[in-house]
Amino acid sequence: MTVGDSSPFPHPERIAVVGLGYVGCVTAACLARLGHQVIGVDRDEFKVKTVLDGDAPFFEPGLEEIVKAGLAAGRLSASTSMAETLPRVDVVLICVGTPSAKNGNLGLDQLRRVVEEIAILLRSRPQPLTIAVRSTVYPGTCEEAVMGALASSHDISVVSNPEFLREGTAVKDFMEPSLLVVGGVDREAVRRVAALYASLPVEPCLVSLRTAELIKYACNAFHAVKIAFANEVGTLAANLGIDGAEVMDTLCRDTVLNISRTYLKPGFAFGGSCLPKDLRALMYRAARLDLKLPLLESVLPSNGHHLERALQAVMDLPARRIGVFGLAFKENTDDLRESPVVTLLEQLIGKGRNLRVFDPHILPQRIYGSNQQYLLTAIPHIEKLFEPDLGRMLAWSDHLVIAQKPAPEFARLILASGLPVLDLVSTIPAPQPVAESATGG
Ligand SMILES: NC(=O)c1ccc[n+]([C@@H]2O[C@H](COP(=O)([O-])OP(=O)(O)OC[C@H]3O[C@@H](n4cnc5c(N)ncnc54)[C@H](O)[C@@H]3O)[C@@H](O)[C@H]2O)c1
Repeated sequence: MTVGDSSPFPHPERIAVVGLGYVGCVTAACLARLGHQVIGVDRDEFKVKTVLDGDAPFFEPGLEEIVKAGLAAGRLSASTSMAETLPRVDVVLICVGTPSAKNGNLGLDQLRRVVEEIAILLRSRPQPLTIAVRSTVYPGTCEEAVMGALASSHDISVVSNPEFLREGTAVKDFMEPSLLVVGGVDREAVRRVAALYASLPVEPCLVSLRTAELIKYACNAFHAVKIAFANEVGTLAANLGIDGAEVMDTLCRDTVLNISRTYLKPGFAFGGSCLPKDLRALMYRAARLDLKLPLLESVLPSNGHHLERALQAVMDLPARRIGVFGLAFKENTDDLRESPVVTLLEQLIGKGRNLRVFDPHILPQRIYGSNQQYLLTAIPHIEKLFEPDLGRMLAWSDHLVIAQKPAPEFARLILASGLPVLDLVSTIPAPQPVAESATGG
């Protein structure tokens, strides 16, 4: 990347970036480089002076160069005064720190102080203002800590625009974003903030305010889980005299099941003849090696909790006759081994619920072998509950529980029945949300 090669931005904005830390300084300098008119605001005089002197206030590859270029082009400046800055801008990006409190909760002091200051200054401001929160904040914070504090101000729009850059590659990450998310209620403000980045090679994701806030946390949690997973696999591999890097590298070559969207949608608990069995075996062997692999150890308990939540949700239904769609652990199979639906039914029967179950690939009289053994051990009188005709089960039920992704012809029948649905796999289209089953095998 070369500095000073940015073409004039089609609709440059007048922007204040509040907080000249790792995120704010990179954001301010990069937005200036894109062609916007940017003032960086920080209460820290040293950081402001450093920027005004054409330096970066901390080490970040490429930052000093674009700070200098921004100043030279007259598009970047810095100030310690919000009062002097606010009348000169139309958009404010808040990039102050949100450090951990002692109990792990999010520290919102810096954010609240900035918002209080803005709220006071807005009393004498006639023109509208768009505020984007770029700091990482828990869902609901923009509503509570920002919109709440600015409720008496006129013409203020608040959006969430989380930052995804990584220290060390922050300038490159800004210029080649992996993700651009803007969330808010005011569509005009959401579009306006997304348009700040219009010249970057990324398709903006326009979502709700809380969704934007949570996406940032989901991304960071996912990254942490990936690292911990790779480290636990590497630890196990090293103890077995295997090259963990080769294992993970090979794992990553599968871009269908492994490095892909597969299994990454919220849905029902996993089950089947492979995942639970293989996790158990891995944990047993790790324990024999005296290895602690807490992430992998937590997976089956996590799945169990998910199943319990489903059970509670069914128990809470105001229904006398519950129809259950699906018995196998996922669609297009008749494998019942370790199907979470079998466990669910067993518990519901134990609690006296009146049930019928339909599965397009299972007929009780045709189940045999390990399937039959598994089912009859779990639910001895299961045949009585089977309904081979979906239409009949729908007519009998006063509530439907979907425990497996239905084929389109069954989904149509279910929708046409008008029955209230508890969709455990989040798969039925409107009025229910759409998602794939998160089962494995
Ligand atoms: N650092 C990262 O890699 C990264 C990446 C993505 C998101 N984030 C998130 O971005 C936010 C900022 O992170 P950071 O690492 O840049 O923090 P930082 O501590 O480096 O910078 C925060 C800046 O805000 C300034 N500030 C605090 N209160 C102020 C006020 N009232 N007025 C003006 N300036 C004020 C501070 O002086 C400081 O310079 C956090 O929410 C963080 O979680 C950080």
